Parts: sequence; structure tokens; C-alpha cells
Amino acid sequence: MKGIIFSGMRPTGKLHLGNYLGALENWVKLQKEYSCFFGVVDLHALTTGYNHTEELKENIKEMLIDWFSAGIDPEKSTVLIQSYVPEHAELHLLFSMITPLSWLERNPVLKEQIRDLGLKENIDYGLLGYPVLMASDILIYKSNAVPVGEDQVHHIEIAREIARRFNSLYKNIFPLPEAKLTRISRVPGIDGKRMSKSLKNTISISDPPKIMEQEIKSMITDTQKIKLNDPGHPDICIVFTYQNIFNPDQSREISAGCQSGKLGCVECKKILAKILINKFDGFREKRKYFEKNPKIVQEIVIEGSKKARKIAKKTLEEAKKAMNMNYE
Ligand code: AMP
Ligand code: TRP
Repeated sequence: MKGIIFSGMRPTGKLHLGNYLGALENWVKLQKEYSCFFGVVDLHALTTGYNHTEELKENIKEMLIDWFSAGIDPEKSTVLIQSYVPEHAELHLLFSMITPLSWLERNPVLKEQIRDLGLKENIDYGLLGYPVLMASDILIYKSNAVPVGEDQVHHIEIAREIARRFNSLYKNIFPLPEAKLTRISRVPGIDGKRMSKSLKNTISISDPPKIMEQEIKSMITDTQKIKLNDPGHPDICIVFTYQNIFNPDQSREISAGCQSGKLGCVECKKILAKILINKFDGFREKRKYFEKNPKIVQEIVIEGSKKARKIAKKTLEEAKKAMNMNYE
């Protein structure tokens, strides 16, 4: 029996390098070994984006085009839209009954969101319940592994706690899911903080070569290396962090060149830009195909949602039965 995976992304438009290295690249690899469900979690997008829903449709399309161009294969994996499988929402409601408020209030991811989005203490009911909905996404397919970036690990721990609590209160029907991290599970943005749309420090994987080049050019390096031949400190330089991630074969040489003052920042950035641009050559080509054929993208996700729904219905029935909610 293959293991089961669920993972999702909020449809916020085109994906960035953090989404790619922290999750998407891993999803593509895991499709061979696992039965995978990948969800466009539009309800989760509403938890903070309920006041600009006019962007949703376009954002969903752009994100799906990124997924398929990066190698998510609908022959192998089930791709769905969360709100097209309403059983997620119903299981979420059942889970909300057994989730202590204290688990949600001390959620460090929420605290980070409050800080990054400037929400102060002014948060909505839906946002507080974010991890409960996420637990439902994962458990409705009885997933045992969840490939995500490091920022999501705590949410998956809450999903485990909810599964454990359900199993002990009613019946043992849910596996305890585990996070599956990549080698680089926290990609820094061009300012060195975690890459994130809300911090406006992203590089999109679909950016045209010229734009990628400019983004890399604008990165701040070691501020003490002013002239070309000044010796640099790669350990505090974000461009070097990127060299380590994207260009590991040359990183020793680059570090030595920087420290000795032989390699200037302009040259170092040119090397990085070339590597990054090459990495996404094939991806950009495939993207052109899906951009011209958005109907194909739509059909895949509608079919996928139907397929997912059959499984989700079964689990929901099983959960309701365990709770004595079968009245016929
Ligand atoms: P989001 O856009 O927040 O829905 O994130 C989608 C996926 O990308 C999740 O698995 C995140 O953990 C992952 N992710 C987002 N930002 C980063 C980052 N800077 N580094 C690594 N993974 C990330
Ligand atoms: N919270 C995740 C994020 O922001 C998205 C998500 C929703 C998710 N449901 C999920 C990820 C279930 C993994 C499993 O990235």
C-alpha cells in the first residue's frame, strides 16, 4: 500500500522560490512513491483575503499553471479545489468541537501573521480556526505525510493533536500525519527575511530572465565590501546564501573568491542570475503552453475535485458514524 499525501497552497497568484523549494519541487518528486492529493486551498485564502475576492479566480489559474508547468501530473496525482469538496468544511466543523481554544491561541504561525500583516489583536474567527481547517484537509484523505515548508510544521502538529483526540474520543480512524520537509525548508527573500508575498521580498519562478536578473542585482550584499577588491564576508551575504542553495558545486570557489577580494559582487550576482534563469528554462517553456490553454487547466481541476470528493465523502461518513451521527 502506497502512503497518502495531502498538501495545499493558498491561491495568492504566481509562486515564488520559497514555495518551489519548500514544497512544489518535493511534491513533483513524491508523486511516484505516494498517492497524492494537492489542493488549491481557496477557503484558507479567505482567512486573510476576504476583502479582495475579485483576485481569487486569476490567482487560482496562475497557481495551477505553475503547478502543472513544474511537473504536477494529473495522471499520477489528484488536484482539487478545496471549496469544490465541501466535505472539508463539514469535517472542519466537527473538528472545531473537539479543538481547545488554547491550542489555537498559542499557535506561533498566527502570531507571525499578526505581526507580518499588521493585524494587531484584531483577528477573525476564520483565521483563528485556520489549523482546524488544515487538519480537515489532511485527514479527510487519511494522509500520513504532508510535504510543506518549515513555517507550516506547527500547523501539522495541531492536525496530529486533533487526530489523536478524535481517535481517543470516538474511534481510531485517522492516521497521525507527519510533516515532510525538504533540504531547504526556509528560503530567504531578497532582504534576508523569510521569502513571503506579504513581505514583498519574493522572486517568482515565472519571472522573465530580465526581471530575475534585476531582482538579483538589487540584492544587498556585504555592506562592508564597497570596492571590487575589498575582502567580503560570504557568511553574512544573502547572495552567497543563494549561491549555496542554487549553485552548491561552485559555492566553495565563490566563497574563497569573495573572501580574497578577487570576486566582486557584480560578477557574483551575474553567476547566480545565470544559474537561476537556466534552472527555470524548461518551466517557462511549459508555462507558455498552459497560458495558451487555460481550459485544460480548468478541466483537470474539476475532474480532480470530483475524484477527491468520492474519497472525502467516505471519510466524512465514517467520522460521523463514529460520533453516532448516523440516524437511519
Ligand atoms: P503559502 O503560499 O503560504 O500557501 O505556502 C505554500 C507552501 O510553500 C507551503 O508548504 C509553505 O510552507 C511553503 N513556503 C512558503 N514560503 C516559503 C519559504 N520562504 N521557504 C520555504 N517554504 C515556503
Ligand atoms: N497553510 C498552508 C500554507 O499556508 C496551506 C494549506 C492548507 C495546507 N491546508 C493544508 C498545507 C494542508 C498542507 C496541508 O502554506
